[in-house]
Amino acid sequence: MKAFNDLADFSAEEIRALIDLASRLDTHPEPDALKGKVLSLLFLSPSLRTLASFQAAMVRLGGGSFVISPDMSIHGIETRPGIVMDGAAAEHIREAIPVIASYGDAIGIRAFAERKNIAADMAEKEFSSLIELVDKPYINMESAMNHPCQSLADWKTMDDFSVPANAGKFVLSWAYHPRALPLAVPAATLHMAAMRGMDVTVLRPEGFELPPQLMQKAAAAAEASGGSVTETDQRSQAVEGAHIIYAKSWSSTRHYGDKLADQKLREQYLDWCVDNTWFETSQDDCRFMHCLPVRRGVVVADEILDGPRSIVIPEARNRMLAQMAVLHQMLGKK
Ligand code: CP
Repeated sequence: MKAFNDLADFSAEEIRALIDLASRLDTHPEPDALKGKVLSLLFLSPSLRTLASFQAAMVRLGGGSFVISPDMSIHGIETRPGIVMDGAAAEHIREAIPVIASYGDAIGIRAFAERKNIAADMAEKEFSSLIELVDKPYINMESAMNHPCQSLADWKTMDDFSVPANAGKFVLSWAYHPRALPLAVPAATLHMAAMRGMDVTVLRPEGFELPPQLMQKAAAAAEASGGSVTETDQRSQAVEGAHIIYAKSWSSTRHYGDKLADQKLREQYLDWCVDNTWFETSQDDCRFMHCLPVRRGVVVADEILDGPRSIVIPEARNRMLAQMAVLHQMLGKK
């Protein structure tokens, strides 16, 4: 495997094989599988789970890793192309990335969306420009419009909890959050659930529609898998019969890049906080998922996070196992 950038680059069978490998590595550890291998980790955006789970994954497979992020005591990194570097930044990303990559056998990169221009973010302009500087296998640890490691872990989590694939109803719901957040997780989640064969409903208020390209990509995946994709702002209709309610906040696509207009719109939807009432007509065993971090009492009520419906902790643990499978395929002996 030369890259793990998008679940869409793999067949459903290949994804299921990765998930089987992740489960096997959990029950049958391979502490020498990546002996002597090094993973370079570049975080241009913050993290808890991704940072810790990749490091843990490498240790559990017998390899090692190192982390570089702007929060550390490193030279200031300039990312703008063609700039005269007479300001604070002492190092350009054009040197930094090849140097970091040269120390490892593969590299993981995280760079959130700029959220100024939706066309540029949809085209993954920044992530592509970073990857062009790498001559090693690479892993997308979250880019403007993708978070494949999260989606692989989410697919596995639903398998672990026996959530039906075909005929399973997956509700991806927008939730209130005080800040405009990236579209990476909703984009990746939508595609993953469609690829898994589920009937996916995107529930969101007006002004927060997912971009048509994302809906079309998911619809194509659903057609291939026997699933379906719909979008609505009607909560009661969306959650009826749901097997999964997956909450996530994202930026207004109507006001993308306009913080004030986005804020004004989202403040009309303060009541989009998942609580027990959302599950009144769902399946009895409907589960709550979220990629984390999550704001308690804002995105979701304590009664859900602390109750039996929530599977957010095993979901987060599966990040490590899913990434172990990816690393095993990428760096292990053939
Ligand atoms: N879900 C996720 O990617 O978490 P972090 O941002 O903490 O890595």
